[in-house]
Amino acid sequence: MKPDLREVEMVFNLFVPPVGGSYAMRKSRNVRDGYARGWGLQCGQMRESVREDALYQEACRLAMGRTVVSEDNRMNIFLILKYFLPYIPFGHIVEFGSYKGGNALFMAYVVDRLYPGRKVFALDTFAGMPPTESAIDAHGAGDFQDVDLGELREFAEREGVKNVEFIKGLFQETGPTVVDKVGSIVLAHIDCDIYSAVAFSYDLVKKFMVPGGYVVFDDATTSSCLGATEAVEELVIRRDGLHSEQIFPQFVFRSPGD
Ligand SMILES: C[S@@+](CC[C@H](N)C(=O)[O-])C[C@H]1O[C@@H](n2cnc3c(N)ncnc32)[C@H](O)[C@@H]1O
Repeated sequence: MKPDLREVEMVFNLFVPPVGGSYAMRKSRNVRDGYARGWGLQCGQMRESVREDALYQEACRLAMGRTVVSEDNRMNIFLILKYFLPYIPFGHIVEFGSYKGGNALFMAYVVDRLYPGRKVFALDTFAGMPPTESAIDAHGAGDFQDVDLGELREFAEREGVKNVEFIKGLFQETGPTVVDKVGSIVLAHIDCDIYSAVAFSYDLVKKFMVPGGYVVFDDATTSSCLGATEAVEELVIRRDGLHSEQIFPQFVFRSPGD
């Protein structure tokens, strides 16, 4: 079911001055949508508005103590899922870099309540970072290894979150089979901090994204993840010529769908 457009207009128009007259795509992204979420969160009252949302609160409970995703980033994902997903073709969600699984559970809960039938595929070694490139990455092998995947799966089961699948292994080994199985992706959450993993994930999902699908980079604008930044600059911006829909609170690009 699509959200009531009056509600959407209310949420966004209250906090974002009108931007031009047209909401059409410009250079493969929707400028107004980018302003609405990014500017709304950074300078408007969007944070308060999202914090009061009952669904957001329920989903946050699952993520508590299980995620390092910042609140602004999680809120932005929530806005995309709740208000924008129904306006693009059907597909599933893939997360590259899930660590303790909190953000994957959060996304799974939200889409299950709003748009049942959508799944979240959460990929990670669940045993820490693989070897990294010390010339560009600040993170090193073994970072984020304090995960108990058995406990995480039990928690998801206990909480009744059935539309999430945790896939253990290197993206380079598990990823190709996963995206073949998924078929169509509406949102790729690329949250893996290091050059090799971000570059691999982006290249892997490209041809599975639905037109207008959201490619969200959690950490490419984070001071400790220049490897992620370099991958976005090199592949997304320079090679593929995409312009971002948001630079705050995280980089968001829309798939041109070709
Ligand atoms: C910042 S954490 C992810 C945070 C998570 N989204 C959350 O909700 O807290 C980055 C994760 O990427 C994973 N990672 C990085 N490169 C990987 C690769 N090539 N294959 C599998 N996992 C990888 C690490 O194991 C780590 O758990």
